[in-house]
Amino acid sequence: MAAVISFQNVSKRYGDITAAHNLNLDVAPGEFLSFLGPSGCGKTTSLRMIAGFEQPSEGEVFLEGERVNNVPAYRRPVNMVFQHYSLFPHLNVMDNVAYGLRQLSSKPSAKEIDLRVSETLELVQLTGFNKRRIWELSGGQQQRVALARALINKPKVLLLDEPLAALDRKLRREMQIELQNLQRNVGITFILVTHDQEEALSMSDRICIMKDGEIVQIGNPLELYDRPKNRYVADFVGKSNFFEGAIGQSNKESVDINLDCGLSIENIPNSKPGEQNVGDRVCISVRPEQLVLARDENQLPGNIALKSRAQVLNRIFLGEQTEYVLRNEQLGEFLALSPRRNELSERPFEINETVFVAWNRDTALILDGAT
Ligand SMILES: Nc1ncnc2c1ncn2[C@@H]1O[C@H](COP(=O)(O)OP(=O)(O)OP(=O)(O)O)[C@@H](O)[C@H]1O
Ligand SMILES: [Mg+2]
Repeated sequence: MAAVISFQNVSKRYGDITAAHNLNLDVAPGEFLSFLGPSGCGKTTSLRMIAGFEQPSEGEVFLEGERVNNVPAYRRPVNMVFQHYSLFPHLNVMDNVAYGLRQLSSKPSAKEIDLRVSETLELVQLTGFNKRRIWELSGGQQQRVALARALINKPKVLLLDEPLAALDRKLRREMQIELQNLQRNVGITFILVTHDQEEALSMSDRICIMKDGEIVQIGNPLELYDRPKNRYVADFVGKSNFFEGAIGQSNKESVDINLDCGLSIENIPNSKPGEQNVGDRVCISVRPEQLVLARDENQLPGNIALKSRAQVLNRIFLGEQTEYVLRNEQLGEFLALSPRRNELSERPFEINETVFVAWNRDTALILDGAT
């Protein structure tokens, strides 16, 4: 199906500052896409160009196949929920939610407006809140009013700029689930801006990772986690241990890498055949859950790329898993995540204890050396 939103070589400059650089992006109808990246990377700017609050300095923006560079915000089939909700404090819930309908040139009848407001309030689980004042609502309820206000016009696209940032952790988790359900129910395309990777991973169909105004990688959560393009993405999506080194030897199937710390790993699968030359700088990424810890060397699995002894510096119980901070003279500090069920037969590893650590050949991911 044709893209509902399309960016073609879109850039945005404010004087000397390039807020967005050469963005190319297609969003499918009904998709839940997140923009993820650190502060200042261009997330809000990108959203504002979709909404029509900003015009690109270069490139073209299409909505449902129509070029909209010169179409004003109020003519676009798009609504936006701002970080600070921007509700009208002097109006009650009903009047806040009905606002968009009452602005229409072909304003619906009072009865129709009542009906639409009730339907929309039901959608965000605020049935019966019509007459409440904004200051009589909790943060989460205000958030829902903002959502209802943006949904009442049935936009094709809903843009959400850090909509949950002001909520506490528990409420935030609840609202994440509600937003996801809401999106599935209404079938509207959602674009969410966040700098919280967990939020992006748990909610999105696809995530667009941004850095310094550019898109670094777009993919579904699994692709980004399992096949990050470079160290920046691997670091931003989940936790990872990184070890720098250079290619020692390579053929189509496998690679040897001389780590800068002096250790060598041999015969690991070549994830980028044809692109590796002897001496090329690379970075190895190993996820904490891919490391195996054992008291007894015999318990380590076969097919090992690297085995060493390391000292436990710290441990954090996380329920069904335990996170260990480990240290080894050559590798430095690194993280390992150990499932509790592996430990039930034994005691958990103690702080200061020396343990065996191993990683499987297949788990070491080779990334470009440059970040
Ligand atoms: N109106 C403006 N005038 C000048 N520079 C701007 C303007 N709006 C944004 N910028 C700059 O453009 C860059 C991107 O800003 P943007 O607001 O898109 O970042 P962001 O990713 O949304 O960050 P945050 O997570 O902090 O909200 C920043 O360097 C910012 O200072
Ligand atoms: Mg922003």
